[in-house]
Amino acid sequence: MAWQIDLSGRGALVTGAASGIGKAIALQLGSMGARLALLDINEEGLEATRREVLAQGSGEPFCMPGDLALERHVVRAVDSSLHQLGEIQILVNSHGILRRTPFTAIQSDEWDLVMGVNLRACFLLCKNVLPHMRERRGGVIVNVASLAGRSCSLLGGAHYTVAKHGLVGLSRHLAREFAPSGIRVNAFCPGATMTPMVTECTPQDELERLSASIPRGRIATPEEQARVVGFLVSDAAVNITGACIDSNGGTIML
Ligand SMILES: NC(=O)c1ccc[n+]([C@@H]2O[C@H](COP(=O)([O-])OP(=O)(O)OC[C@H]3O[C@@H](n4cnc5c(N)ncnc54)[C@H](O)[C@@H]3O)[C@@H](O)[C@H]2O)c1
Repeated sequence: MAWQIDLSGRGALVTGAASGIGKAIALQLGSMGARLALLDINEEGLEATRREVLAQGSGEPFCMPGDLALERHVVRAVDSSLHQLGEIQILVNSHGILRRTPFTAIQSDEWDLVMGVNLRACFLLCKNVLPHMRERRGGVIVNVASLAGRSCSLLGGAHYTVAKHGLVGLSRHLAREFAPSGIRVNAFCPGATMTPMVTECTPQDELERLSASIPRGRIATPEEQARVVGFLVSDAAVNITGACIDSNGGTIML
């Protein structure tokens, strides 16, 4: 039986689309034919992604700046995206922040910030999109977690590791609860990837040591990660739900 990897006409909401993996996912899904709604706190970066999506011939994406840690911004962003796209068949949560603070130096407001952006915002996005997906009896969600959600963060602090473990748990739970409604939910767990999240807080010599520690011998590109997400949201992955898909060059094998 022929299977579809084409996303023509499907409405896709991508968070964290101003930079790194989220930006590459927006371009990847756009190249597969999806109609895009892009969210990020970084308005300037979002505008740059908008121009690149247009330039590659993937149509005009709907872009909405906002802080996804704030419930009212999530509600407004999902409502506006639904209004613009007509429907949301795909949700990819790729926004996130990393803090490298050693455990005993983490203040409770930094703990709350990392949990708020990396976990609570994903809960809010799923909560606002799922009723709509359930109504139309279909949809697919990919939560971009991390190798940190499978094992332990290579760079981030304990709060990052805990939030990503939570995101893996949320994805598994939602997969079970919503499978009868035709909705798939998976966690995507990248290993080290060359994005501003990593390069901005890591000196060159540490980046080189990190590369050398990866069995594949190098840090992944955001485009390599985005292609995996393109597969996961396509009909080719129709039987994959509740999974954690690792893409880490052999760093961990669970
Ligand atoms: N780069 C890596 O090595 C790596 C590895 C594993 C997992 N990840 C995960 O991949 C995802 C993407 O990270 P990246 O490497 O592309 O980083 P990045 O910093 O390049 O991109 C993250 C994006 O999230 C946005 N963002 C941050 N806080 C936000 C908020 N409150 N509201 C809305 N948008 C917000 C940022 O503006 C940025 O555009 C994150 O969830 C990250 O934890 C990254």
